[in-house]
Amino acid sequence: MSTPSSLAILLSGQGSTMRALVEACRDGRIPLTPALVLSDREEAPGLAWARTAGLRTATVDYRGLGRRRAEERLAALLDDASPTWIALAGFMRILGSDLVRPWLGRMVNIHPSLLPRYPGVDTYRRALAAGEREHGSTVHFVDESLDGGPRIAYVRVPVHPGDDPERLAERTKAAEQKLYPWVCDRLARGILQWSHGSVRYRDGILEEPLDATAFLDG
Ligand code: GAR
Repeated sequence: MSTPSSLAILLSGQGSTMRALVEACRDGRIPLTPALVLSDREEAPGLAWARTAGLRTATVDYRGLGRRRAEERLAALLDDASPTWIALAGFMRILGSDLVRPWLGRMVNIHPSLLPRYPGVDTYRRALAAGEREHGSTVHFVDESLDGGPRIAYVRVPVHPGDDPERLAERTKAAEQKLYPWVCDRLARGILQWSHGSVRYRDGILEEPLDATAFLDG
């Protein structure tokens, strides 16, 4: 019997995007089995949820280890679980090239902005301060750059008058919970693929990431 394709998910916080992925795997919207949930923080609420949900979990606490050794541990855990795909779901660490390179084309990240605008942290506050009328979230392949790997798809969310970062985050996170399963399903089925540092969608290379906003409405 062949091993089913599987997904490892890395998180640091609440885990709302991880939950959306796990639920989509479990109800058949993504043809992957959740193999492992990894965190850099033992106290991450998402990790507690994953345990309750019966998933295999592990923590690599960077404190006291240093980044290089922590990444060696992460790499060993990922090698051992040997997932088909890795999804970063609010994993708030920059990953070094030794960790990223073996998974190039099979590791994706979701970032709460319309990349390439607002890489890094604090995207909601920065977008509001700049007077943006629209914000959103982007899924991209992970490479060695910060939030800079090939962009796969994004969802746009409106900025409403009087928004504060919390309200904008809530709206964006609700959209992310649809976007990430939508993308991961298409990756798992080979409809979207890494291709020499670009993104292949069906028969062509994407010049621009897919705008999934209309697909995700409703
Ligand atoms: C998500 O909004 C995700 O886009 C963001 O962290 C949040 C995690 O929320 N990721 C990044 O900022 C990565 N640069 P969650 O813990 O509730 O899933």
